[in-house]
Amino acid sequence: MVVGFIAAFLLLIIARLTNEVNFPLILSCFGQASVKLMPFSYTQRRPLRTHYGYINVKTEEPLQLDCDLCAIISNSGQMTKQKVGYEIDQSSCIWRMNNAPTRGYEDDVGKRTTIRVVSHTSVPLLLKNSEYFFKETNNTVYVIWGPFRNMRKDGSGIVYNMLKKTVDNYPEAKIYVTTEKRMSYCDEVFKMETGRDRIQSGSYLSTGWFTLILAMDACYRIHVYGMINDTYCKSEGFRKVPYHYYEPGRDECDEYFLHENAPYGGHRFITEKKVFAEWAKKHSIIFTHPNWTLS
Ligand SMILES: *[C@@H]1O[C@H](CO)[C@@H](O)[C@H](O)[C@H]1NC(C)=O
Ligand SMILES: *[C@@H]1O[C@H](CO)[C@@H](O)[C@H](O)[C@H]1NC(C)=O
Ligand SMILES: *[C@@H]1O[C@H](CO)[C@@H](O)[C@H](O)[C@H]1NC(C)=O
Repeated sequence: MVVGFIAAFLLLIIARLTNEVNFPLILSCFGQASVKLMPFSYTQRRPLRTHYGYINVKTEEPLQLDCDLCAIISNSGQMTKQKVGYEIDQSSCIWRMNNAPTRGYEDDVGKRTTIRVVSHTSVPLLLKNSEYFFKETNNTVYVIWGPFRNMRKDGSGIVYNMLKKTVDNYPEAKIYVTTEKRMSYCDEVFKMETGRDRIQSGSYLSTGWFTLILAMDACYRIHVYGMINDTYCKSEGFRKVPYHYYEPGRDECDEYFLHENAPYGGHRFITEKKVFAEWAKKHSIIFTHPNWTLS
């Protein structure tokens, strides 16, 4: 009997170990709902990582997200003709920003979307296509960021009100808002990394900034596609592309310089990229298409 007990105990340990290794890869990124469909693994698997800075608009519960390899797809025109859609779709979690489309661009950017990080200013763009975003692709998690004045829950937050209405119309939609505390945290990170105060220097953080901060908490490894580095626009023979892969017109580098130098209301894209390169030395992050060399 003792032998049997020891054998059972060993089996249990082995089962736990293999769980640790396998489950982040297989189960990655799906919310509680899909975990409930797997009652057997549920008890053995370590809990999904909980992110208290992101609250579900309908249930008021915090975001649960735990991924092995994350692919973050830039909205940049750099994605055009890259043909990495298949590779992207193999990742455990796929992150997109704002209203970046997949339909019609699958070969270059992939078709799956696990999570979309969305600026308060882009919420109306999603609502223009709400049947697509909140019904057809109801597996996607939406994380919205925005300033308190637009996100307040007391009835006067314009964007929060839109989101509230959306979850009333689309009960399946998984929409989360970034808490005021988390927004301040993202500002603090900017100050810590650059020595500059975000507000006093008259700038807004970009959706890419909020995306990377959350991804570093939720992913074991990150692969960023299509983001240019801080010196790209000054490098020899750089590829001149549109700012967005899905919108002709505005030029990427023109837009970067315009924002970087705007006295008020710009995104400091170039400064942010310099910080991302530093993060990539401490976290498991790679940047390709174009490639960054990180020493
Ligand atoms: C959720 O998305 C699936 C796949 O597109 C769709 O078939 C289903 O009708 C959607 N569910 C709801 C309640 O909208
Ligand atoms: C960029 O990096 C990828 C992945 O590390 C590699 O396969 C590819 O050859 C690199 N491309 C260039 C142009 O250096
Ligand atoms: C930044 O991008 C340029 C152009 O692709 C490249 O030549 C340079 O090596 C890159 N620098 C770093 C630090 O990644």
